[in-house]
Amino acid sequence: MLEKLSELEKEFETSLGSLDAQADVLNLKSLYLGKKGKISEILKSLKDVDPETRRTLGPKANEIKSNFQTLINNKLDSIDISVINEKLKESRIDITFTDDLKEKGLFHGGYHPRTLVQREIEDIFLSMGFEVLDGPHIEDEFYNFEALNIPGDHPARDMQDTFWLEDPDSEEGKKHLLRTHTSTIQIRGMLERKPPFRFIAPGTAFRCERTDASHEMVFNQLEGMMVGKNISVSNLIYFMKTILKEIFKTDVKVRLRPGFFPFVEPGFELDIECLICKGKGCSVCKQSGWVELLPCGMVHPNVLKSGGIDPEEYNGFAFGLGSDRLVMMKYGIEDIRHLQSGDLRFNSQFESY
Ligand code: PHE
Repeated sequence: MLEKLSELEKEFETSLGSLDAQADVLNLKSLYLGKKGKISEILKSLKDVDPETRRTLGPKANEIKSNFQTLINNKLDSIDISVINEKLKESRIDITFTDDLKEKGLFHGGYHPRTLVQREIEDIFLSMGFEVLDGPHIEDEFYNFEALNIPGDHPARDMQDTFWLEDPDSEEGKKHLLRTHTSTIQIRGMLERKPPFRFIAPGTAFRCERTDASHEMVFNQLEGMMVGKNISVSNLIYFMKTILKEIFKTDVKVRLRPGFFPFVEPGFELDIECLICKGKGCSVCKQSGWVELLPCGMVHPNVLKSGGIDPEEYNGFAFGLGSDRLVMMKYGIEDIRHLQSGDLRFNSQFESY
């Protein structure tokens, strides 16, 4: 009997050693440890042997049983790990090596058209001596409205336009909101530097509005400001025209209209002829043939004061380029909502890495 047991042990170990599939190991388990398995047979047969033998054989058989159990569990664990490793090896992609993606038939990424345009605009402004600033998306009423000469009863403060944040502890006049324009950075920029200076600030703005082909609740603008001595409207117009020429690489038709923004005086709307329909009228330009692209104007004296600048000594201009619209015009995109659809079929149409 004892011999039979040690033979069984050897037999089990050799069989187990040769297996590497989970199903085979489970079969082996039931062959030895199952109800009708080899060990159970031995344990059952103990009742027929004399008590002396039973006393030595019993514990031995049980020891072997728990030994087998441990060996099987270890084996199953190691199979699990090697299966996982195998899978990981198969699905490994070196994302720094685009050929690896191509080889696997996978599609590789491209820059979002916004990124392409933003980089281009930043380069143009940097070459004209502008700094590039950033600012927070969550602002308060002071930066978004008050400091920009937008009094408490201005329609832009209407609940429908602004995403207000629940803010029970906010101080009077400092309620938090998602910035409705990047003009907040005019104030931050002025407070942090001394004139003369010029900067741009590309960024996202948020408005609680219905969306359509040319409106999104989350959209991008590019703010710009130049403050110094004796800056004139013709300086403003010169900069705006130069920028548009650089961006579109051709002369685009522009028109200047008076525009009202509480933070500039005088204020203008600079429109360009719609490049989607070439001025014929479409859903992007609302059938007018023109797209509002560059609201701008001379900085209001109250705004300079909010930024800690003496309006008697300095003046300047500011603009808020509708950068998503610019992207649309440049690439002929007919619906602003494509821009953040996250649809790879859209994104992959632009320059790739
Ligand atoms: N902040 C204005 C808007 O979002 C645009 C603007 C910026 C107008 C700077 C004039 C000067 O509509």
